[in-house]
Order: sequence, then C-alpha cells, then structure tokens
Amino acid sequence: MAINLRGRNYLKLLDFSTQEIEYLLELSKEFKRLKLTNTPHRYLEGKNIVLLFEKTSTRTRCSFEVAGMDLGMGVTYLDPGSSQMGKKESIADTARVLGRMYDGIEYRGFSQEIVEELAEYAGVPVWNGLTDEFHPTQMLADMLTIEEKFGYLKGINFVFMGDARNNMGNSLMVACAKLGLNFTACAPKELWPSEELVEICRNIAQENECTITLCDDVMEGTKDADVIYTDIWVSMGEPDSVWETRIKLLKDYQVNSSVMQNARHDAIFMHCLPSFHDTRTTIGAEIAKKFGISEMEVSDEVFESKQSVVFDEAENRMHTIKAVIYATLQ
Ligand code: CP
Ligand code: NVA
Repeated sequence: MAINLRGRNYLKLLDFSTQEIEYLLELSKEFKRLKLTNTPHRYLEGKNIVLLFEKTSTRTRCSFEVAGMDLGMGVTYLDPGSSQMGKKESIADTARVLGRMYDGIEYRGFSQEIVEELAEYAGVPVWNGLTDEFHPTQMLADMLTIEEKFGYLKGINFVFMGDARNNMGNSLMVACAKLGLNFTACAPKELWPSEELVEICRNIAQENECTITLCDDVMEGTKDADVIYTDIWVSMGEPDSVWETRIKLLKDYQVNSSVMQNARHDAIFMHCLPSFHDTRTTIGAEIAKKFGISEMEVSDEVFESKQSVVFDEAENRMHTIKAVIYATLQ
C-alpha cells in the first residue's frame, strides 16, 4: 500500500505505523543522496514554515532551517521568549495565527500537551522538535545512522544508559519497538521509563518480534550490545538543584571503555548531543568544580573513539527532518 503522510502532524512516533516510519527513512536516504550529490531539490518553493523554540537548540534549529531552505521555502525562527505565546497569547490563539500565515509549524518546548494543542488548532502540520516527553525527529536520524553502520535495524541490540525516563529514553524505546530493535534501558530503577509506556512498547515490540528490557546492572545490561546510547543526565527545563542527586544516581552508568569493551566488538557509541564529555563548556566546568567530575555521561575517550558515530548522527538530523517536512507538506 502506498504511504501518504501529506497533511499529517509529526508529534510522536507512537502515532505512526512501522511502514510509515520506514517510508520516512527511505525518503531521508533519498534526500541525503540529493544533498551529497549537490542535486537541487527545491520541491516546496513558495511555502513558508515557522520554528517556535521555547528551549535552546543547535542541531534541531539548524536542521529545520537548512532543510527548509534546501526545499526552497521561507523559514522564520522565533527564539525562546520572543513570541507572545504563553505570556500574552494562548497556545490555541498562537496556533490559529501562525496557521494562517505558514504551511507548517515546528515547536520545541515543554510538555507534550502544548505541541498536541498547537496541532489541534493550527490547521497545518505541526512538527515536534522536542518536548519533555518525546524527541521524535531525533529518532529518524538515530535509526538512519544505525542502518548506515550495520546495514539493517531488525534484531540490533540497542542499549540506552542514563536517565531512561526522559524524552530520549522514551522515544528510543518506542522507536526500537516500532522498528524491531531489542531495547534495553540500563539505568537505576528510579530512572526507568513509566510502566505505562513500557507496557505500550512491549505490545508493539511483540508484533515486531523484538524485546524491551529494563536492567540496573551495567555489565549485564550492556553485554552483547550493538549500540550503546546515552544522553545528558539533566535535561533542559529541569532545575539546577537536580544535578547532585542525578550525579549520585548515574555516576556508575557512564559510558566508558569498560562498558564499550563489554559490548560487541563492533559496537557503536551514540549520543543525541550536546554532551558533557569534558570541561570545555560552562556547565561542564561548573560541575567539575562543584562535584569533582570532569566527564559525565560519556568519557572523553569513548566520545572521541572510532566507535563514536555522534557527528554522522548529527548530520542525519538534517536529512531526516527534510524528509518529515517534505512528506507532510508535499
Ligand atoms: N540533539 C538535539 O536535539 O540537539 P539540539 O538541542 O542542539 O537541537
Ligand atoms: N534530554 C535532552 C535532550 C537534548 C537533545 C534534553 O531534553 O535536554
């Protein structure tokens, strides 16, 4: 059956079938080929999109901007605090205004409810550029990167280490279940994903002949892994006061050389970025001073190793976001 995503929102992967996600990955590969061969692809000339950011960003913002421009569109960026949304204008009103002017709206911000409400009122496709609960555009880039490295997705042993109930842990569990990868959350019990989402994902995983495992033992959880993935320990929007407890909970879950050696010999390391792998950032330096640790979720050695594919992953954000924009606006 032909897949057609025209007019659809892209709010979370749970809204999409396996075939629809696979279609977006195929489309991403085609857009990557066009970009790398310098072939013009201004397929959406005359259309305009707006990027609404309530949290900071490098990759997501730049991916949407470059993708939009490559497709021939006009792109408006609204930075955190510069629109009326929330303070002087409701989400519903903002959506109805932007929907009259633009062909598509990207939103990065806080609760998933906000992006769902925007989509309800906008009348044009809305794309989730990260909420507290989900980060669905990141998923396509991650899955594309794994497929490029291994040649397939089904049966890959995927391990997420760290705060497994944040937007990345949640989204990766859903993505793996949908696409047939065996997902393990390797994290302290306090940071496991919600039972409700685990149950939903286990049902999806069963259909796709893969597994969802929760494990608090690092050596057991990372054994035979093809992919070791991590994310920062404290996410955007969380208060600074969380650092102390989070470091205590997660210091034994750092991705370092002993973790990589415990995984398969050809395992890869992934991270959505940004990452605290040294003290060359303001926060990294502050944490080092306060808590005496110079590397957090990943050691600098692993981050800089040949097994690390983080910059391929970052590049793939742009090709995959282009696929989402094109599929929903064509
Ligand atoms: N991975 C990711 O979403 O990066 P940004 O926060 O820079 O957009
Ligand atoms: N969990 C991180 C992901 C950043 C891309 C955050 O929300 O800050």
